[in-house]
Amino acid sequence: MIIAIDGPAASGKGTLGKRLAAHYGLRHLDTGLIYRAVAKALIDAGQPLDREDEAAAAARRLDPAQLDDPLLKTDTIGRAASQISVFPAVRAALVAFQRDFARQPPGAVLDGRDIGTVICPDAEVKIFVIADPRVRAQRRYRELVARGEAADEGAVLADIEARDARDRNRTLAPLKPAPDAHALDTSALDIDAAVAAAIAIVERRRAAAH
Ligand code: C5P
Repeated sequence: MIIAIDGPAASGKGTLGKRLAAHYGLRHLDTGLIYRAVAKALIDAGQPLDREDEAAAAARRLDPAQLDDPLLKTDTIGRAASQISVFPAVRAALVAFQRDFARQPPGAVLDGRDIGTVICPDAEVKIFVIADPRVRAQRRYRELVARGEAADEGAVLADIEARDARDRNRTLAPLKPAPDAHALDTSALDIDAAVAAAIAIVERRRAAAH
């Protein structure tokens, strides 16, 4: 089984993906980490973020072992990831890795922006996670504070809104629900309630498929 989870920044899709994967015994790939790893490789090498050819070369050199780096989670890297993810050559270089991951048994949960639309259009279950931007900003702010990063809630909200706009308005693989995706609004749900709602969606889809 392949489960595709898409949604905007800080919507909780990463945690949801991890928990769903554990529940169903599937592998999990947070595809945001891939774009973050490419952005960080460029920054570490002192290369600019606005050169498609250099960003695509970094994407082709992606080493999956880099995806465990805790430094990928910072907001600076998230912003940089959203800049390089607009380049078609970068996205093209990362498609095969994601599809190979999804195809391997026993199946996988992938979360990102274009999983249900581009990477795994045949996924058995597609979930599009949404949440009020203010709720997402509050969650992200708490996460940053818990990690000991300096944060300002207003700045976090502005950053989330800028990232949403860039991800939604890009021409290639924009953030949008697949026609057959199930919307899951987590604004008023804590993580356990969101996981329960996602499992209910998966179970309904499986029942309908039989
Ligand atoms: O989900 P996360 O915040 O880690 O993603 C970082 C950035 O990577 C996003 O803002 C988006 O621009 C990009 N991304 C993407 N496609 C994906 C996953 C992430 O374009 N499937």
